[in-house]
Amino acid sequence: MLPGIPRLKDPNVIVGFETSDDAGVYRLSPECALVQTVDFFTPIVDDPYTFGAIAAANALSDVYAMGGRPLTALSILCYPGAGDLEELAEILKGGAEKMIEAGCVVLGGHSVNDDEIKFGYAVTGVVRPERVWTNAGARPGDVLVLTKPIGTGVVTTALKRGLARDEDVAAAVASMLKLNKSDADAHGCTDITGFGLLGHAREMALASGVTLEIDSAAIELLPGALEYAAQGALPAGLKNNREFVSCAVRFAQDLRPEVEALLYDPQTSGGLLLSVAPEGAAGRVIGRVTERGESPIRVL
Ligand code: CO
Ligand code: CO
Ligand code: CO
Repeated sequence: MLPGIPRLKDPNVIVGFETSDDAGVYRLSPECALVQTVDFFTPIVDDPYTFGAIAAANALSDVYAMGGRPLTALSILCYPGAGDLEELAEILKGGAEKMIEAGCVVLGGHSVNDDEIKFGYAVTGVVRPERVWTNAGARPGDVLVLTKPIGTGVVTTALKRGLARDEDVAAAVASMLKLNKSDADAHGCTDITGFGLLGHAREMALASGVTLEIDSAAIELLPGALEYAAQGALPAGLKNNREFVSCAVRFAQDLRPEVEALLYDPQTSGGLLLSVAPEGAAGRVIGRVTERGESPIRVL
């Protein structure tokens, strides 16, 4: 957020702008808080139904990343006035079915005439105030669990360049369609989206005042991602992420360039990065939390 924008001070704000969290959280009562977020983007796959469903899974993710349960959503649509109405119906249908899967009611929405298609949702959920998973909750001694493989940015870039095999695209799409619903008992959490694994890890490390130690060999990669990265199918956002984030990262060893690149790969509807007590860890452990060392992130 830009500085100098006035803001109302309200003691019921549990999570606001300060910690770069996934969603805002507002206390309604001692037992219940609202979780609110909005996300929309341009098509990342050709199939309109699949695009709508991914947009919904991605928008819901920020509620799950706060430990919340999504309740209601409003759709946001930018669509050309002369655009194909059958394709539009498919986008909305894909989004609606994913929302039903999540148990989230679409109450309405808003559309504007725009030459470039964009679609997504504003999602509202609820969470118990003492159970909010913020970026600031990671504690030394925790382990880090990542719930999805990474590489959607590289695979979709390879798709646009005609390099990607169908089965690799299908695996990336299946991953993006997966809801981030989690019943983990986490201390802190973020979902991995546009800033890539290391970008979102950096936000968590800074907000929690800890170092995140990430074992690069433990990270699951989407099929084909390494190969396409080695072929140079790197999204523009990857380079921006590396420029912005790399000063917060120390590498214990020289990684293969394509492995290093994927750590910065912007994800669409990526997984949750959960900071949990070792005894409560379910899923793929990719690292651990330590007291703050010389840098916010250490990659092994
Ligand atoms: Co997020
Ligand atoms: Co978001
Ligand atoms: Co969170």
